[in-house]
Amino acid sequence: MGNQARNPKMTQLITIDRSLSQSAMVDLLLPAVLCLKQGGHVVFPTETVYGLCCDPTNEEAIQELYAIKGRSFQNPLTLHISGVQHLSSLVEGFEREEVQRLASVFWPGPLTLVLPKTKQVSDSLTGSLPTVGLRYPSDAVATAFIQACGGVVAGTSANLSGGLAFTSHEDLKNDLVGRVDFILSADDIGGLESTVLDLSEGAKILRPGMVPSELIEKVLGHAVEVCYAQSPTAEAKKYALKASLKLYDATDRVEMLALCSGKKLGVLVLTEGCKNEDWNGKDLQRAFGFADLVVEFVERQRYAFDLYDALHRLDQKGVDVILAPRVEKSGVGAAIMHRLEKSAGMI
Ligand code: TXA
Ligand code: MG
Repeated sequence: MGNQARNPKMTQLITIDRSLSQSAMVDLLLPAVLCLKQGGHVVFPTETVYGLCCDPTNEEAIQELYAIKGRSFQNPLTLHISGVQHLSSLVEGFEREEVQRLASVFWPGPLTLVLPKTKQVSDSLTGSLPTVGLRYPSDAVATAFIQACGGVVAGTSANLSGGLAFTSHEDLKNDLVGRVDFILSADDIGGLESTVLDLSEGAKILRPGMVPSELIEKVLGHAVEVCYAQSPTAEAKKYALKASLKLYDATDRVEMLALCSGKKLGVLVLTEGCKNEDWNGKDLQRAFGFADLVVEFVERQRYAFDLYDALHRLDQKGVDVILAPRVEKSGVGAAIMHRLEKSAGMI
């Protein structure tokens, strides 16, 4: 674990209206940019979850970022970039044909590419690994901010280590006010984290995410290995909740509900693909009539987009158990199930 973070900090909040022009946005972001350049820590929105970042060339700031999160130094940060022009000095092999193809299709967007790093990237940022993760977010606020910081920041998800990432700035305030210098907030944040694809040796998916592996395979024209166990975080406790999370499907829902009787219960419901009429609309709400809170999603993409919000909401309500529907592990379903199984302590 990291050193003690310098606590508490005076955290300043900047709310960004997405309809602002690029230059008005940069003016608003300027205090946070200056602070980062002086070793500060900034929470920023991305098109997946909120990130937390610092200057990648400032050793002290990197150490402190680990301390803020309570993150193990073995678990690398990723370089968040606002364009590909900086990459030749940071990684090797970006010019490879298949890397170029993936970047041209999926960047900017929720795909983190892992490549061999150059000496310019600090070992303390990569947990001494010879590789580094590259993330080029598509969120306009993220790119305006990273660009104003010089084009590259060292980032990670803005949650404390072991916890669930945040897609709402209201939720993350509980954990991060007093620990970081700035929180940049914007609306319309949602989703699960980026897909992590290691291209340093073959093509291995280390974490399923918002870009489905099937799409990556289509672009590459060959299969990719799925190696979640090889991620530096594989063993770590992740996506933990206060409530106990249990998964259900149409075949075991009755037993699951019975197991929950007498408990304060939160239920997630996915109406897409419900064949049994009991599982539709009002009937389904009735089936879960004794639940304290039911959150309904109409389809899987929405399930992925709003999952973290819903889990934080139910957890804050103080439910004992959260029941969540299993989905097929294809497309974005692979990422949904990965997070749910981790939260449930199943993997
Ligand atoms: O969508 C996202 O990726 C979010 C937003 C904020 O950008 N970020 C994020 O960061 O989820 P983090 O630190 O929570 O997750 C990055 C993942 C971790 O599982 C880490 O182990 C892996 O990427 N990773 C980073 N660098 C790596 C490397 N050199 N080799 C293998 N895995 C790496
Ligand atoms: Mg994370």
